[in-house]
Amino acid sequence: MAPLLRNLAVAFGLLVSTGRNGVSAQTTPPEAQGLHSLFVAAGKLFLGTATETNNFNDSAYLAIANNKNEFGLYVPENSQKWGPIQPAPKQFVFTSPDAVAAKAKANGQLFRCHTLTWHSQLPTFVANGTWTRDTLAAVIQTHISNVMGHYKGLCYSWDVVNEALNDNGTLRDSVFLETLGTDYIPLSFAAAALADPTTKLYYNDFNLETIKAKADGAVKIVQLVQAAGVPIHGLGFQAHFRVAQTPSQASLVATLERFTTLGLEVTFSELDIAQRLPANDTSLQQQARDYVTVVASCLAVPKCVGITLWQFTDKYSWIPSTFPGLGDACLFTADFAKKPAYSAVASFLAAASTTSASSASSTGIAGAVSSSAALTNESLVLATAGEPGTISELKSGSSPFATMIMISGMSGLLWPVVLAVLFVL
Ligand SMILES: *[C@@H]1O[C@H](CO)[C@@H](O)[C@H](O)[C@H]1NC(C)=O
Ligand SMILES: *[C@@H]1O[C@H](CO)[C@@H](O)[C@H](O)[C@H]1NC(C)=O
Ligand SMILES: *[C@@H]1O[C@H](CO)[C@@H](O)[C@H](O)[C@H]1NC(C)=O
Ligand SMILES: *[C@@H]1O[C@H](CO)[C@@H](O)[C@H](O)[C@H]1NC(C)=O
Ligand SMILES: *[C@@H]1O[C@H](CO)[C@@H](O)[C@H](O)[C@H]1NC(C)=O
Repeated sequence: MAPLLRNLAVAFGLLVSTGRNGVSAQTTPPEAQGLHSLFVAAGKLFLGTATETNNFNDSAYLAIANNKNEFGLYVPENSQKWGPIQPAPKQFVFTSPDAVAAKAKANGQLFRCHTLTWHSQLPTFVANGTWTRDTLAAVIQTHISNVMGHYKGLCYSWDVVNEALNDNGTLRDSVFLETLGTDYIPLSFAAAALADPTTKLYYNDFNLETIKAKADGAVKIVQLVQAAGVPIHGLGFQAHFRVAQTPSQASLVATLERFTTLGLEVTFSELDIAQRLPANDTSLQQQARDYVTVVASCLAVPKCVGITLWQFTDKYSWIPSTFPGLGDACLFTADFAKKPAYSAVASFLAAASTTSASSASSTGIAGAVSSSAALTNESLVLATAGEPGTISELKSGSSPFATMIMISGMSGLLWPVVLAVLFVL
């Protein structure tokens, strides 16, 4: 909790200095202020970036990434995924994500954590193991309690379950679905709530912004977790878009609001906007409009807390190797020059914070503090709204974790009481 509070205090410090320097802010060109500072001044908590230790020997990269006015949050691009972090049973490799966390802390940046239960980038022992419901539930619990326990108090949020949906809105085939059915989802969130009650628990996926059937599926996931009496706090929209195919602001806002009305906060968690190579002036101008559309959509939704870029420079973007022929998706070129999209976002945010004045700034930190403080109340509401027995078919077996699921599912006890009972057990 203390690091989170410290980070919030850092964000508060940023807000105070922005307010005090209101006059000079008008004369400093938007491009010189940094995107995170501009986003905070417009009322949001962070504009962050994915990064990884294999970027940390690049001084030109670090000169931008370490500037907390530019990026207020880091998320490890790969090293917290299950395969790299627990490659063999109970062998945990924290070296790289620890280095990313340490750099974020040194820079005064928030730390977003990614990801726990995901069908992809799994180690062989999980993907190709032979499992029963009890043994796989125990493996999930061991993974989540160790990894989240290691980063306890350090993460603004955790992507607990990632990409569980097919594009048609059904649950994706995986070792988790095959063995545990839909129970693996509330079970993962319950393990996460137990491992670190101070962080925000997210479901994260792609194409929710463009395919209504998939967003319908995500609504069902949220309702499944809530009905089990288990906390879920946020929905991450990956926002891997294409130039000229980015949804309109009205469409994005409507999709985000489907989840805020369920009581969640929302974020664009992996934003990049790819285009066919080579880019030209026309496509770069369209990319600038598309980036502004995404940023404007977050600004228009009070419970959209921030945006994270999936790398900020084309030099390290995952797009060209994954989608041959596409690229040029980031705000900076491979040579670290600011693209038209960077300038457009900076100008848009500078105008937005000028028009919304200081009241918008205070919403940023007030919202952050109150949503953090409201965690307990939110959990209580979710717990009492639970439908008893939703996942009670899970065999209690010998695992205390399974027993906990039984307690929560069958009696609809208040979540803190469930946690207290477990600690006593
Ligand atoms: C950083 O290290 C990686 C290998 O660890 C290497 O491939 C890359 O060229 C290095 N980059 C710089 C800028 O030194
Ligand atoms: C699981 O086994 C299949 C078939 O041998 C193989 O293709 C796949 O790569 C394995 N998965 C992992 C994560 O090791
Ligand atoms: C949904 O998509 C999955 C994966 O492509 C497919 O296996 C399944 O049959 C589809 N279900 C429906 C109802 O279309
Ligand atoms: C710019 O790129 C777009 C997208 O690839 C293409 O459709 C268009 O013809 C290009 N325009 C010019 C002037 O090359
Ligand atoms: C929690 O709920 C109670 C009763 O509704 C309310 O009085 C209290 O202010 C709430 N606390 C927070 C932190 O929201």
